[in-house]
Amino acid sequence: MNTIIEVKNLSKVYEDAKVLNDISFKVEEGEFTAVMGPSGSGKSTLLYCISGMDRPTFGEVVLCGKEITKLPDEKMSEVRLRQMGFIFQHSYLLKNMSIRDNIVLPGFKAGTLPREQVNQNADALMKKTGITNIATHDIKKVSGGQLQRAAICRALINKPDILFGDEPTGALNSSTTREVMDIINLINAEGTTVIIVTHDMKVAARASKVIYLIDGNIKDQLNLGKYEDNSEKRSLREKKLSDWLESQGF
Ligand SMILES: Nc1ncnc2c1ncn2[C@@H]1O[C@H](COP(=O)(O)OP(=O)(O)O)[C@@H](O)[C@H]1O
Ligand SMILES: [Mg+2]
Repeated sequence: MNTIIEVKNLSKVYEDAKVLNDISFKVEEGEFTAVMGPSGSGKSTLLYCISGMDRPTFGEVVLCGKEITKLPDEKMSEVRLRQMGFIFQHSYLLKNMSIRDNIVLPGFKAGTLPREQVNQNADALMKKTGITNIATHDIKKVSGGQLQRAAICRALINKPDILFGDEPTGALNSSTTREVMDIINLINAEGTTVIIVTHDMKVAARASKVIYLIDGNIKDQLNLGKYEDNSEKRSLREKKLSDWLESQGF
């Protein structure tokens, strides 16, 4: 199995505070990692330092065998555009543009495929996520769940090695959360490595591995194994996770 990301002794220090403290872990190809922990424990900072949106103060991040933390900004942007996809609590789609135009934009920007191929990939992604019917809609005219599906399509348009999410279901109700997580589990089952930060136990229970962060330290890690789409197995995972979280003081 290939290691997609190796985090080595990563620390993030602000003037008066150590936010991440000597964090090390590996993410293998095809894994789905969830990061949990109390508010302020450093989850978002960790995600941003791993994905090159922010720089660690110390330590290294190796992406597919290449150290990336010291890359110049321009090179880092290229890596993010081609090898990483991002989803956040809000979709951050551009206004006054259709859903499809938002999705193809990073594909055109990367310029690795002909525009026609990018358009075809966008159509396939919209079909997979069930938003074909809103392809030409303005983003003001669609629901939060549909926006998040579109954000997922946009994140995947360049076929990234890894999909990052910071509280990607944080603004969704429980049934929309389930639908969005079904899509993320499907994408993961098809081979995309996933790392998400979440407060939601039901979301984290879909990961193969859960990392618990407290005060910038990895306190513990739980292996849940590959996700299987059936309600009985899902409730067993949720039980195992909630017992573990309770033991962490969550
Ligand atoms: N730019 C910054 N300058 C100083 N402190 C920061 C900055 N960004 C985040 N922090 C601090 O780092 C800690 C972790 O923040 P964050 O990673 O957002 O936590 P989480 O996502 O787990 O809620 C918090 O105490 C926060 O106040
Ligand atoms: Mg956060």
